[in-house]
Amino acid sequence: MEIIHVSAECYPVAKAGGLGDVVGALPKYQNELGHIAKVVMPMYKTKFLMNNAWDVVHKGRTNIGDYWFDYTIIKEQTNKLGFDLYLVDINGLLDREKVYGYDDDTERFAAFQVSVVDWISVWAHKPDVIHVHDHHTGLIPFIIKHCYKYQHLHDIPTVLTIHNAQYQGAMGWDKSYLLPPWDSWKWGMLDWKGAINPLASGIKCAWKVTTVSKSYLEEMRQSSNGLEDLFEYERGKCSGILNGIDVDVWDPATDSYLEDHFSVETVAEGKSRSKKKLCDTFSLDIHKPLIVFIGRLVGEKGADILPAAISDSFYYIGRKMNFLILGSGFPEVEAQLSALQRLAQNDYNVYVGYNEALSHLMYAGADFLLMPSRVEPCGLNQMYSMRYGTVPMVRRTGGLRDTVVDYGEENGYGIVYNWAAIGDITQGIWRAVDLYSDEEKMAEIRGRMMQLDFSWQSSVQQYISLYQDLQYKEEPVAKSLPE
Ligand code: ADP
Ligand code: GLC
Repeated sequence: MEIIHVSAECYPVAKAGGLGDVVGALPKYQNELGHIAKVVMPMYKTKFLMNNAWDVVHKGRTNIGDYWFDYTIIKEQTNKLGFDLYLVDINGLLDREKVYGYDDDTERFAAFQVSVVDWISVWAHKPDVIHVHDHHTGLIPFIIKHCYKYQHLHDIPTVLTIHNAQYQGAMGWDKSYLLPPWDSWKWGMLDWKGAINPLASGIKCAWKVTTVSKSYLEEMRQSSNGLEDLFEYERGKCSGILNGIDVDVWDPATDSYLEDHFSVETVAEGKSRSKKKLCDTFSLDIHKPLIVFIGRLVGEKGADILPAAISDSFYYIGRKMNFLILGSGFPEVEAQLSALQRLAQNDYNVYVGYNEALSHLMYAGADFLLMPSRVEPCGLNQMYSMRYGTVPMVRRTGGLRDTVVDYGEENGYGIVYNWAAIGDITQGIWRAVDLYSDEEKMAEIRGRMMQLDFSWQSSVQQYISLYQDLQYKEEPVAKSLPE
C-alpha cells in the first residue's frame, strides 16, 4: 500500500516533541513490512535541510483567499531515513527556524495543507491512504471531501491520528477564506462550538480516527478540552493504537549520543558511568538516587507543580536524592525551577532549553524519571527510560496507565500514583528513595524493564490492518439501474 503521512514534525528533520519521534519512526517500520510510506512536512530552516541534498519534484501555484503563492516540493535524495521525505517550501511562510509559535501559524499551516492537497491532485495515480497527524493537518480530510477543486480526490481514504487533543487550532469563521472554495452546505463539518476547529473537522471528516493509546481514547470521552461530545458521537470510527519507540535510535547498546554503552547484562556499570558524567556536569551527588524530568514545562506535564513537589520532598523526606530537570516552556515555571538552584546542596540542577544529546544522557544516567502528567496521550519518555533501565514514576493517566505497572504489583516495575498533585508526587519520591536503598530489588526491576518490548512491531501491524479495512469498506459508487 502507498501511505502518505502529512505532519508538522518528523525527527530528525524537525521535532518539538513526541509527534516528531512518531512520524520519524512509524513510516520506516511500515516500509520494512513492504509498504510504501512517505512523509510530507513543511520545509523549515533546519540543520537537516542544510546538511542534506534535495531534488525538486514539483513546482505549483495556489492560494489562500486573495493571497496567491508559489510552492515547491523537494525530496531528500538518498532515502536515508528509511522512507521518502518530501518538504513543502513556501517562501516567507514556512521557511522559519521554529516549527510553531508564530502569530501567523494559522495561515502557515493552512497554506501547507492546501499545497499538499494541490500537489497530490496532479499525481498520475492516487495514494491508498492519506494519514494526517494532529490539528496542523486536520483540515485535509475536509479539503479532499468538500472543496470543489479537489473533488477527484474525494475517494482517497483518510486517517487522522490524534497525538494531543489539547491543541485544536481553532479559528474564527472570518478565516474561512483560507480554505479553497467549498460546498457551503458542509459548514457543519468545519464547525465546533461556533468556530472553525481543524481537529474537530478532522474527527468528523476522516474515515478513521486513532489516538496514541487506548486509555487516552476512553479519557477523551470524559475530558478533551471541549470535544467530549464529539468523541462520544464518533466513537465508532475511533480506536487507540499505542505508539512504539524507534529501537534503532533508542538503544543503550548503540545510542549515537552516548559514549558509555550498556545492555541488560552491563546496566549497573554502564548507567553509573553516565550518571557520573551528569553528576560532574551538574554538581550532583553520585551516591544519592538521581530523579530526572525531561519535557515541555507546561501544565499538561504537571511541570507547574514540580518546584513545590521538589522543595516539599527536600523538606519532608530530607536531602536524600538529586533532581535534574531538562525542559522549556512557560516562563514562570522556568523561572521557579531556576530559582530553586539557589537552595541546592549539590542535589538539584536545571537545564532550561532543548537539548537532544543531554536528554539521551539523562535517560541513560538517571535512576528514576518523573512524569506527573495531567494529560498524557501516550508519552514516549517513560518507554525510553525503561529501555535504559530508568524507573518511571508516573501518574496513572493515558498512555502512562497503559505502559507502566507499579512495582508493588505482580511483575511490576514502575512507581505509579493517581493524581498530578504535590502529595502524590512526593509520596512517589519517598518510594523511589526507599526502592533505591534495596540494590537487589533495583537490579531486578531494571532487568525486567529493559526486556519489555516497546518496539513498533505490533502497532505498525495494527495501522496496516486499519488501512486495509478502509480499502474494503469504500463507499459504493451509485450505478445506473440495469435496463
Ligand atoms: P510530548 O510530545 O507531549 O512532548 P512525549 O513523551 O511523547 O511528549 O515526547 C517528548 C519527546 O521530546 C521525547 O523524545 C523527549 O525526550 C523530548 N524532549 C522533550 N523536551 C525536551 C528537551 N527540553 N530537550 C530534549 N528533548 C526533549
Ligand atoms: C503528543 C503527546 C504525547 C505523545 C506524543 C506522540 O505530543 O502529548 O503523549 O507521546 O504526542 O504521539
